[in-house]
Amino acid sequence: MSRPRILVTRRWPEAVETRLAQEFDATFNPDDTPMTEAALRDAMAEYDAILPTVTDKLGVAAFAEAPRVRILANYGVGFSHIDTEAAKARDIVVTNTPDVLSDCTADLAMTLLLMAARRAGEGERELRAGDWSGWRPTHLVGSKVSGKTLGIIGFGRIGREMARRAHHGFGMKILVQNRSQVAPETLAEFGATQVGSVEELLPDCDFVSLHCPGGDANRHLINADRLALMRADAFLINTARGEVIHEEDLANALQKGRIGGAALDVFEGEPAINPVLRNCDRLVMLPHLGSATRETREGMGLRALENLQAFFTGSTPPDRVA
Ligand code: DGY
Repeated sequence: MSRPRILVTRRWPEAVETRLAQEFDATFNPDDTPMTEAALRDAMAEYDAILPTVTDKLGVAAFAEAPRVRILANYGVGFSHIDTEAAKARDIVVTNTPDVLSDCTADLAMTLLLMAARRAGEGERELRAGDWSGWRPTHLVGSKVSGKTLGIIGFGRIGREMARRAHHGFGMKILVQNRSQVAPETLAEFGATQVGSVEELLPDCDFVSLHCPGGDANRHLINADRLALMRADAFLINTARGEVIHEEDLANALQKGRIGGAALDVFEGEPAINPVLRNCDRLVMLPHLGSATRETREGMGLRALENLQAFFTGSTPPDRVA
């Protein structure tokens, strides 16, 4: 029996590529060049499975022709780059890779929170530029983190891991805004209180960390009106998806000192960075590193492999999202 033809759109950890090559008729992308929308559309007609990731825009046009592809085993927990309604209409299964990246993404969100509060980006830029004139009581004075209030928008797996670190590691008080009601025992685990809306949460927080999904439902959730509800010394952290923040509104708020600072790991047009963000001093920016550890990137690949194995042996993939 011939093995399913699969396409891995970007370089994956070597150990996982080796496993995929053993089990499938696998095509890899050794140059790691991002695929164009046209190339992805063509691939839909040539492969039984595509293993895309966040850089692969699979909008409705990608599904236009009757494709050969039967499963999109996404490498990543977020899948707002895939039009899942179009996939469903064509009976194409979509899976993601939850759980394995929750720890490391929450670690990075905490890194960003600390960097923003303690002005680490500004300090490093100053030092590298050779501009440090020495220790002084008023130099790059930041905000204390321990004991402050953290608002978490989106209380899924990563939001909860963020709460665990902030509450148990830094004694922070946790406020939560989530689409559905969170079980009281879950909230109790993190000393958290759930509030009814984003509007209710923002004015009470020293830090706000975004952990909700991207896509149309949450596009520009954080805009000028909501930024205006934040405290003038509060910080905004985003490790979710770039489109959740209206970047011009954020830049404006930072430049006018309407909030204390921000830290972003994700951007609406990434890898292009909106030029308005570049001149914001009180902004820390990282290049989408949330899940970027050896352990997690291998774990994500193995999770996608498990989804493929289940699908091609006639079971429901464990991480089916569409
Ligand atoms: C994720 O898993 O969603 C990461 O952001 C990479 O897509």
